[in-house]
Amino acid sequence: MTRASLDKQPRDVASMFDGVAEKYDVTNTVLSLGQDRFWRKAVARAVDARPGERILDLAAGTGTSSLPFRDAGATVVPCDFSLGMLRAGKRRHPELPFTAGDGMRLPFADGVFDAVTISFGLRNINEPKTGLAELLRVTRPGGRLVVCEFSHPTWRPFRTVYDEYLMRALPPIATRVSSNPDAYVYLAESIRDWPDQPALAALVQDAGWERVAWRDLTGGIVALHRGFKPLAG
Ligand SMILES: C[S@@+](CC[C@H](N)C(=O)[O-])C[C@H]1O[C@@H](n2cnc3c(N)ncnc32)[C@H](O)[C@@H]1O
Repeated sequence: MTRASLDKQPRDVASMFDGVAEKYDVTNTVLSLGQDRFWRKAVARAVDARPGERILDLAAGTGTSSLPFRDAGATVVPCDFSLGMLRAGKRRHPELPFTAGDGMRLPFADGVFDAVTISFGLRNINEPKTGLAELLRVTRPGGRLVVCEFSHPTWRPFRTVYDEYLMRALPPIATRVSSNPDAYVYLAESIRDWPDQPALAALVQDAGWERVAWRDLTGGIVALHRGFKPLAG
């Protein structure tokens, strides 16, 4: 299943994640050479969740990305449309209110969250701009967005090495550690085709977020984009 055949059809994406759910977290740590923990800490700092706040973690998968918000004393709602990922998450973290929902049509009322965040999920959503607009709808005026997503290394020579890793080394490693290596071919192709940092910032802004900015992590392998919902209008 390559990106050409998968083409981000929602049902195919959901069943692909159903298939990798059990080994998803360990595979991540292996393939990112342990960087995933550092990226998650950076997301937690950027969201800066406070006790009592309501945080939406969209495309939360098994809920690993939701834990820092729970630990900060906020009420975090992990939402995902892969029932396999949700089941694996609920077994590990029964205290979290896992919610089945599609990022293109969120099952929440307008303005109910103080902050919304999505880690390694926006790239998988069929229409990312629609997803960003839905996130805006469910955020209160003045509330914040943090997107954590694979991006593009900014230093040319590093980018060349990284692209080689993605397209050549990652699929064979994934064959050893993942239950569905094809999912990691899709991963490599979808990262290569994803907009770079300024292009994603423009997309976030076009969806209605203001004061949009980004920060590179690990030389731009990952970028954190942030924005705020306008107070009025
Ligand atoms: C790579 S995982 C990320 C999981 C988690 N956020 C993390 O950081 O480990 C991407 C998740 O996005 C979910 N996803 C993709 N498209 C979605 C959509 N339209 N609505 C809800 N979830 C979606 C998938 O089911 C999958 O669990």
